[in-house]
Amino acid sequence: MEKYRTTIRISAIAALALGTSTAALNAQPRTNMLHQWAQGSEAAAIATLGEMFEAAGGVWEQTAISGHTSNTLAKLRSDVVSGNAPAAVQLKGPEIAEWDETGRTANLDDLAAAEGWDAVVAPELISVMKPNGHWVAAPMNIHRVNWLYSSKAILDELGLAVPTTWAEFNAACETVIAAGKTCIAHGAADWSDATTFDSVVYGMDIDLYRAAFQEADTEAMRSQGMIDAFAQLRRMVGYMDDGINGRSWEQSMTMTMEGEAAFFLMGDWTVASANLAGYVEGVDYLCNQTPVDWGGTGYILNADSVVFFQQSDPEYVEGQQLLAQIIMSPEFQVTFNVAKGSIPSRTDVDLSVGGFTQCQQDSLRDLKASVAEGTLVRSMAHNMTVLQKYRGAMMEVITEFVADDSVTPEEAAERLAEAVEAQM
Ligand code: BGC
Repeated sequence: MEKYRTTIRISAIAALALGTSTAALNAQPRTNMLHQWAQGSEAAAIATLGEMFEAAGGVWEQTAISGHTSNTLAKLRSDVVSGNAPAAVQLKGPEIAEWDETGRTANLDDLAAAEGWDAVVAPELISVMKPNGHWVAAPMNIHRVNWLYSSKAILDELGLAVPTTWAEFNAACETVIAAGKTCIAHGAADWSDATTFDSVVYGMDIDLYRAAFQEADTEAMRSQGMIDAFAQLRRMVGYMDDGINGRSWEQSMTMTMEGEAAFFLMGDWTVASANLAGYVEGVDYLCNQTPVDWGGTGYILNADSVVFFQQSDPEYVEGQQLLAQIIMSPEFQVTFNVAKGSIPSRTDVDLSVGGFTQCQQDSLRDLKASVAEGTLVRSMAHNMTVLQKYRGAMMEVITEFVADDSVTPEEAAERLAEAVEAQM
């Protein structure tokens, strides 16, 4: 950690040259980071950032808001409105550009130039982190959303192969259901329903995914392809058990790991949670991409990143520099991502050492293949495509569809388009 302190000393000398007060020079770097990782493996992963920050001489505080990204975004908005903008906040996708346009976020260009971020950050992330050509966010990771976890016990018992298309998936579920078991482990929440639907739309029709979920094209939302996707989702709700309400994603994961449900569709934060609970890949579960009907490698990308709001207290300003430096360091990228289930945002980290699992190594392999095949998309469900107001409107329709089986696929497609149009 000595190198971080060295840089702080250098920036203190720079501050002296600029005539900054001695109070500023004695500043102890501080932060209070607002984020969504309140429990379990997620809390354990972010704790590694706090530990590194403290080891480098910083004073670490965090404000963890449970209940997924929407709650964190709401807290951010109210903090800024009340004149209490957070020193550091976990922020993603187009919200980064949106907040940047308010002129209140800190510019990280000097640090990025000094540390050569342009050369090491995964190219897929750069436009998100530099929305107007300037660095405003420090990327922590790359998460893959389209993972299908299979119960090894159930596949073996029923002689099933991991399904690779939606037709194969449905056929496998029919077999599982006929054997008296639950096919899909699921916990109903707007974001987890949307996570499943991300994979369904993408796997059935990648062009539709791009138009509807990346471009918010409401004609695409009304299309027959979207109706077909809702029909597939309706079928999948039938493959879930009756207990989906109030069940967390960790509990759903456990059902699959314990052989109580055949499949679980969820991003690779599951890998972290499975590791923490002692489940073993290849023994308890398998991880494969969710089905695609177009026969290639699929990758739905999600990335966590940190944005810094301008502060007047020099200790918090120093803390921002230190935090950004630590986030971008290869050491943090290994420790955090091993604990988070994701892969580094830097391309120069070797995943064959340091404790990355096979699933994580497969994620990097498939990311590269998907880029080469031109199939990479960003995740709507995980705030990587459209602004929260559109995402929230879409999630409401998707989650209502999951909860209420009297809503037809045709009605859902129409409501999806109307809900988004109402926000325009
Ligand atoms: C975040 C992950 C988090 C997951 C589940 C995603 O949107 O990017 O960091 O682990 O949600 O809470």
